[in-house]
Amino acid sequence: MNNLDQISPVSSEVNADGHLVLGGVDVCALAAEYGTPLYVMDLQTLRARCQAYQEGLSARYPDVLVAYAGKAHLSTGLLLVLAQEGLGIDVVSEGELYTAFQAGMAPEKIVFHGNNKSIAELVLAVKYDIRLVVDNLHELENLSGVCAKLGKNARILLRLKPGIEAHTHSYIRTGQVDSKFGMDLPDMCKALETISQAPWCDFLGFHGHIGSQIFQLEPYQDLVAFMIDQMILARDVYGLLVKEVDLGGGLGVLYTEADSPPAISSYLRLLATSLKTSCEAKNLPLPKLIVEPGRSIVGQAGVTVYTAGTIKPIPGIRDYLFVDGGMADNMRPLLYQAEYTWVVANRMLEQPVHTYTIAGKFCESGDVLAKDINLPEVSVGDYIVSYTTGAYNYSMASNYNRFCRPAVVLVGDGQSRVLVKRETVLDVLRFDEWETA
Ligand SMILES: Cc1ncc(COP(=O)(O)O)c(C=O)c1O
Repeated sequence: MNNLDQISPVSSEVNADGHLVLGGVDVCALAAEYGTPLYVMDLQTLRARCQAYQEGLSARYPDVLVAYAGKAHLSTGLLLVLAQEGLGIDVVSEGELYTAFQAGMAPEKIVFHGNNKSIAELVLAVKYDIRLVVDNLHELENLSGVCAKLGKNARILLRLKPGIEAHTHSYIRTGQVDSKFGMDLPDMCKALETISQAPWCDFLGFHGHIGSQIFQLEPYQDLVAFMIDQMILARDVYGLLVKEVDLGGGLGVLYTEADSPPAISSYLRLLATSLKTSCEAKNLPLPKLIVEPGRSIVGQAGVTVYTAGTIKPIPGIRDYLFVDGGMADNMRPLLYQAEYTWVVANRMLEQPVHTYTIAGKFCESGDVLAKDINLPEVSVGDYIVSYTTGAYNYSMASNYNRFCRPAVVLVGDGQSRVLVKRETVLDVLRFDEWETA
């Protein structure tokens, strides 16, 4: 496989026993110590991706914020690593916001999203001077009440519908997108009208996010052009100066050899250069440039380790290889037919000679993690590894079938430590209340 080095964590090695080693730690030893399924995050990959964003953007643009999209994978320990590298965070709930507080994240580095924020969430944001991305006119109205009650101003960006939809290989420009997120242009104008007369509102600027797992740069160019048009409108019609432009996240990563996302540096060069040149051309002061990468920070850093259980051949059809996790620890194959690259951690030097379909242990026939993939001959007890599970796996994990969610461990410099403990059956039962007759 020629681009495996862009799929596996950057610290990946194979030791003399033919075992996969991550962060200097034998993955088979990790599985034995912490149990499986196990999420493993590689410190070296995390730091490398954070640095690619921090350095890539600040080298090309004067005022930047890289606000990691916490929805991709969040825990206090993980966020501490990202904060050390200078990143901020984008949060969408009270839980994500408190995680940011617990990791000591400065309010100035937090972006608060959500299409249906509760009054309690708005109160929190205003109280702690968190930058709010206002999704709709009703939220703006709620916010005005919250600010009046607290006697404080809100710092806001408006989330816009840029009319660009991009996913992986294709994108479309549409006049109006049927999306639950953000405002169309008529609502944006109403919001700007309100804001221009609202002393409780510190208007910062605009936000736009055009999709996820994006492999092209052109839609981002269109996004910048769209933002420039709205900056001019805000200035010329409403007398409002845009101080911040948030271009969302969405840069893709490699899950399999077939994937070919642009490099982080090319993506950032395009954003920074087109925003800078367009602002200069239109005589607009340069706003702060915010980006919200999720998958491209944590995706490649993570792997999931499973133990092989039953192997069930269906003659003439397929050989099922059952693992001790499945759709509850990785929703993406079922949700989006997502594909991954797989290896056997204790057989890294063996040839892929057998075609398996990897199925989970959940009570759904759709609980299949990979169809017809080639692996070395597997035995019961082998450690089966899925690469690129750092994003949208742990954060989307569920207790379906009263499954105990796996632990997350961080590996680096020959050491491992727990970021999130494995749940126990007692955790799963903890919230039950019942009466006996
Ligand atoms: C508003 C917003 N920002 C950032 C992201 C992060 O996207 P990604 O993980 O694809 O970089 C998302 C993901 O859906 C999002 O909705």
